[in-house]
Amino acid sequence: MKKMTKSTPRGQDVKQSGNKMGDSLGEKILQEIEEQGNVNTEELAKRLDIDHQQVVGAVKSLQSLGNLINSEQKGYTKWELTEEGKSAVTDGSPESVVYQAVPPDTGILQAELMKSVPNAKVGFSKAMSAGWLLMDKNAEGGPRVKRKADSIVDKVQEQLKKLSLGDYQLNDKEKVEYKKRKLMAEVTVKYYVVSKGSEFSTEIRKQETDLTPEMIMSGSWKTHKFKSLNFDALGVPPTSGHLHPLQKVRTEFRQIFLELGFTEMPTNNFVESSFWNFDALFQPQQHPARDAHDTFFIDDPMNAHDFPMDYLERVKKIHSEGGYGSQGYRYDWKIEEAKKNLLRTHTTAVSARMLYKLAQKPFRPAKFFSIDRVFRNETLDATHLAEFHQIEGVVAERGLTLGHLIGVLHSFFKKLGIEKLRFKPAYNPYTEPSMEIFSYHDGLKKWVEVGNSGVFRPEMLLPMGLPEDVSVIAWGLSLERPTMIKYKINNIRDLVGHKVDLQMVQNNPVCRLDK
Ligand code: PHE
Repeated sequence: MKKMTKSTPRGQDVKQSGNKMGDSLGEKILQEIEEQGNVNTEELAKRLDIDHQQVVGAVKSLQSLGNLINSEQKGYTKWELTEEGKSAVTDGSPESVVYQAVPPDTGILQAELMKSVPNAKVGFSKAMSAGWLLMDKNAEGGPRVKRKADSIVDKVQEQLKKLSLGDYQLNDKEKVEYKKRKLMAEVTVKYYVVSKGSEFSTEIRKQETDLTPEMIMSGSWKTHKFKSLNFDALGVPPTSGHLHPLQKVRTEFRQIFLELGFTEMPTNNFVESSFWNFDALFQPQQHPARDAHDTFFIDDPMNAHDFPMDYLERVKKIHSEGGYGSQGYRYDWKIEEAKKNLLRTHTTAVSARMLYKLAQKPFRPAKFFSIDRVFRNETLDATHLAEFHQIEGVVAERGLTLGHLIGVLHSFFKKLGIEKLRFKPAYNPYTEPSMEIFSYHDGLKKWVEVGNSGVFRPEMLLPMGLPEDVSVIAWGLSLERPTMIKYKINNIRDLVGHKVDLQMVQNNPVCRLDK
């Protein structure tokens, strides 16, 4: 992204306008041009004893006023002391500093010497090769450094001092050496030579930035000078909300279902009865998932009351006695258990309601989908929370088979950019056969589970009243998993909950699942 600059649409630099100091320096420059024909910014800075950049700034703001001045940029290179070079001038070269740090008679442990002065390593090796110091490797307590020369002459310091006073010119060999030692550096100096422009004047007249109603009424606009528009200025970015990654990915999935002709199911009820969440799906009342360890039951209101009673009777019968050629589970089905309210554990509860509704009219094929939140009493870890989102697809049509399910899954996942699918036999109380869906993840270089699917059991569909030759195929996946993979988020807490970084939400790009 292009860097935002804080300029107004007319390119007026906020800092420059109304800067009295800048204006007076600008006027000074104009005066100098009037008197001498042209002005060298570097010389002027020296003469006024101010920072060169300040003069350059004043020239730039004069440039922005139209054709007041002409300016030509020039430059040259020169050798300058670095900060290290400057400190060598005042305190001595690193090698002499190290030499001075060695006590004349006793010497000093090498390890201690190295800690005692800055740049000790360079200084030490220079002082050694200059023959100023010697090292006693076998001394007690470790290698010891002693003075070898009784006195030294710090030629480097002397030379740098002369250089800084302009009394000396470096030869090429010295330049290379000082550059290598980072005592000097070659810098480019840029300066301007400024002269009169076609609209030269010694007075700075502020250009107008806005055309006001007053100027139009008085006619004064005719004589005003207007600042030209800066078409390169960027506007102030509008503040706006940002979609959470889960919302972006949900939008993509919704789009895919809509393209395939699916209708969205109403999922606006987090609270569901056990009847629709479990019983209607032929999930027996003793099933471990119906335990409070796995499911959040609601205390208030504890029970649901409004059921289609004839259908409820048929569900009771299929569980307790069987029917339609099935033996059922043969247990004592209790309405009390079915009444218990809970936070829905899967969106298949919604699918059950929709299929029941579908069965109440003369049969017409249907394709439904939903994407919404579900709740499970899970042990929380890096990839699991007690609530997440499910994506679910359902197709009802006469004569559907497992082959149709596999075909639909291939076209669905192809739209997500996933071409390699594998299926593994699985078990759900409400589907037979059931299949777990795996896809090959190129990034992770392995097969990952992406969903669950199956053909709904007759024990679920026939009590609803659907014709016998109608099959319903369905599949479900989580929304969080593809989102975490897509946005490379490893911990679910970085995606959902109070630890989410809002900047992450703001920065994340739009989502295209197949890209
Ligand atoms: N309800 C299943 C789950 O919770 C997903 C699923 C949906 C399986 C539809 C088969 C058919 O994981």
